[in-house]
Amino acid sequence: MDQRVFLYSVVGLLTAVLARYLATRGQKKYKFPPLVPGIPIMGNALQVPPTQQGQWAKDLADKYGEMFTVKFGASTWVFLNSSRVVTDLMEKRAAIYSSRPPFPMTQDIMSGGGRVVLMPYGDRWRQTRKIMHQILSTRQKDTFRDFQELESRHLLYDYLHHPDRWFSANGRYANSVIMSVVFGIRSKLDDPDVTALFETVEMFLEQQQPGINLVDGFPILAKLPEFLQWWRPRGLKLFEYTRGVYKKQLDNVKARIENGTQKNCFAVDFLKNNDEKYFNETQQLFTLGTLMEAGSDTTRVSVGQLIAGAATYPDWVVRARAQLDEVCGSNADRLPSWEDKDKLPYIAAVVKEVFRWRPNIAEIGAPTSCTKDDEYEGYSFPAGTVFVWNAWAIALNPKEYEQPERFWPERFLNDDLNNGLKGHWAFGPGRRVCVGWNVGEMNVWMATARLLYCFDFIEDKANPIDTMNIPQLTKNKAPFPVIIKVRSPAHAALIERDCLAATNAN
Ligand code: HEM
Repeated sequence: MDQRVFLYSVVGLLTAVLARYLATRGQKKYKFPPLVPGIPIMGNALQVPPTQQGQWAKDLADKYGEMFTVKFGASTWVFLNSSRVVTDLMEKRAAIYSSRPPFPMTQDIMSGGGRVVLMPYGDRWRQTRKIMHQILSTRQKDTFRDFQELESRHLLYDYLHHPDRWFSANGRYANSVIMSVVFGIRSKLDDPDVTALFETVEMFLEQQQPGINLVDGFPILAKLPEFLQWWRPRGLKLFEYTRGVYKKQLDNVKARIENGTQKNCFAVDFLKNNDEKYFNETQQLFTLGTLMEAGSDTTRVSVGQLIAGAATYPDWVVRARAQLDEVCGSNADRLPSWEDKDKLPYIAAVVKEVFRWRPNIAEIGAPTSCTKDDEYEGYSFPAGTVFVWNAWAIALNPKEYEQPERFWPERFLNDDLNNGLKGHWAFGPGRRVCVGWNVGEMNVWMATARLLYCFDFIEDKANPIDTMNIPQLTKNKAPFPVIIKVRSPAHAALIERDCLAATNAN
């Protein structure tokens, strides 16, 4: 073995043992929910699947009940497995349950400390979130509506002419909405910049899985001298790549400002009003980049869930269609539009069911740490304990939802129908709730109404969709096979007539 590798391994191991000792030293006075047995030093880190941990965490919830504890290296994670305990802790006690644990690799190195989703609770997070809220809040609904209207026409045109490219078309749709608002430009199908952006999302998500980076499980390793940090060169390479993808967009904006072709957009205001105290260049790039990333991938995946739900449980599609046909005509008279929203409650219920059905954007939630010692129902937790809402286990628990595996929009036809955050945890709980939920929900509503009105989604019986295992990271490939056909020649003619122009508009 190379002497250096040997030295790194010994130092790493000793530091890990020390970290584990320091982390657990004072924990005797605390009382955690049942601990899943693991192995010395690593705890449960080697048991957790590298991606898609939903089923693993659900099996543990079935065994241990509403809460259980696991150790990922020196970090202690408590899984909250029912809506009741998530509400009690992450919502009602949000003042102390809204921070993030340290991520020396994925946040400090790979993101230059600039990814808002991993920032600890504090001034920088507040400042960044405030900026994002200004663009994404319900007050901006009208700005987004126009782009969603235009880009969804492009989406229909892509589905008609390239049905096999449906997943890329979803990605283009979502990306183009957010690019229009943030950078004042639209995206094309197969745009290499869009492909590169989705690659950065997948790289980040891959590295973010628990157990992948030793230093994220043992943050004390980050105190080793830099030359001993064997993960650092890889992290810096990923950082440079990601930064380059974001910087290209910002440089393009600056060039367009220079030559007078830049449209009004968020990036222009952001550059004008930037307070350097809060946003150096890296932070600027990661603020804008996060908007592109988080605003694109989540909608692309959610529209995929819609299609999987339509192909595998076609009974509800008939009922959705009946309502769409009543409002827009049974012979492809016109496309559904924003003005129809109140007349289409079934579509609102479909959107909520998309978010609940197979929550594979955050199957085990997102790690949130508490900032003070706390007690709950006989347990006591030290500050720094990590909590997650066990999204997969909750969404698929028959005590929470009748026939949970079924795609059944009727479950949401109730008084809370128009409260987008009520009834599922797709956007997370408490103060870290997705800052773009309103835009994401509108993206999915528009795509849902128009796609269901115009297309049939048919399961290929030779290649059935395994809805419990739809892969999350697919390197820009469709995550499952499906047959897509336009509903009728009249619907095809409607798309040709009303959507072609949207593919050429500036
Ligand atoms: C289609 C829908 C979407 C889903 C299902 C979704 C889901 C999520 C989830 C689960 C979280 C973590 C919440 C937590 O930690 O408690 C999150 C955070 C976040 N989302 Fe979304 N999201 C969506 C759309 C969007 C859009 C359109 C944007 C922006 C354009 C966005 C930007 C963000 C940001 C910046 C955060 C980090 C917030 C923070 O840590 O304070 N999301 N999202």
